[in-house]
Amino acid sequence: MQVETSQAPAFRVGPVEVANPLVLAPMEDVSNLAFRLICKRIADPGLMFTEFVSAMAIHHNAVKTYRKMKVHAGEKPLGIQIFGGDPAIMAETAKVAVGFGCDIVDINMGCWVPKVCKTGSGAALLKDPDLAEAIVRAVVNAVDVPVTVKVRAGWDYSMFAAPDLARRFQDAGAQMLTLHARFAKQGFEGEANWDLIKSLRDVLTIPLIGNGDVKTAEDAKRMMRETGCDGVMVGRAAISNPWALARIQAGLTGRDDPGEPSLRERVETALDHARMMVAFEAECESWEEVRARPDFADFELRGLRALRGQLPLYIKGAEGASEIRGRLSRVSSYEELEELLLGFLARFEK
Ligand SMILES: Cc1cc2nc3c(=O)[nH]c(=O)nc-3n(C[C@H](O)[C@H](O)[C@H](O)COP(=O)(O)O)c2cc1C
Repeated sequence: MQVETSQAPAFRVGPVEVANPLVLAPMEDVSNLAFRLICKRIADPGLMFTEFVSAMAIHHNAVKTYRKMKVHAGEKPLGIQIFGGDPAIMAETAKVAVGFGCDIVDINMGCWVPKVCKTGSGAALLKDPDLAEAIVRAVVNAVDVPVTVKVRAGWDYSMFAAPDLARRFQDAGAQMLTLHARFAKQGFEGEANWDLIKSLRDVLTIPLIGNGDVKTAEDAKRMMRETGCDGVMVGRAAISNPWALARIQAGLTGRDDPGEPSLRERVETALDHARMMVAFEAECESWEEVRARPDFADFELRGLRALRGQLPLYIKGAEGASEIRGRLSRVSSYEELEELLLGFLARFEK
């Protein structure tokens, strides 16, 4: 039985109350509306973020990018993450994000991939503290919701930029800081160095969120204990595995471990995820609505393609899963997906 141990919020981001210390990471092509709703239902993270949204794309009115900002009432509190290197364009995009109904605007200063950094955005800003601060100030001045920043430790090992930046961002009005405890140059190599999170603790009075390599409830509890952070952000461990989040949430809030999901749960969730992806691709509210559209097949294909990498992960580790992995990542209709997954489940349950 699950018992609620505390009613008090885990922390506050300005006026936004965050009920528990688990934070779902922003992840491109992963943390979309469908996935967030699934995470909310299964794990109820205290706070979730969208995948990053390009300020330049919004500036140029890219329709596809607007879709990334869609907020559902059932997923709040939600932060929309934006990235860009121009203070005015970032401020403009932050206003658009607030118009979509987000509770928080988060600024990305952690993305290390060349296509982002070469435009002076993401982690490239760690090399230009004045511009980084100007962006935070511009965004803070533009919106009336809390503004938060997600950073890496610095560009490379030669510069642990985060403490100085954290101080400057806090002075500029940022209301929370997340540190992915790696340097940009590392990409995802090596282990996250949680000592870096700890060294920010005394620099900040605003909430500090630790991030990097948390996979289990034990990891999350240890991160909080060792670093003094207010919350724990989880990314990769949650991909196609919202149950990992549920277990971490339970550990962080002192509840019983809900354990591993059954194969039936995993299959049903994968199908639900696929239905929502297709519906939201067409900006429909439900599967029934998108099914009734004459152009259903276009959205079906697009939604399933977007999930290509994630569908096989839902059944990873189950006996015989590798035999259908290839076909799962190539499905071109929902019917085909359902047949594959339900067939697999039936064989398993027999
Ligand atoms: C597929 C993928 C996409 C990501 N996209 C974003 C993003 O859009 N914005 C961002 O700030 N970080 C992004 N990240 C980084 C994560 O938010 C997180 O900082 C990183 O994965 C470390 O946390 P983890 O060890 O729990 O995965 C992404 C990571 C992955 C794996």
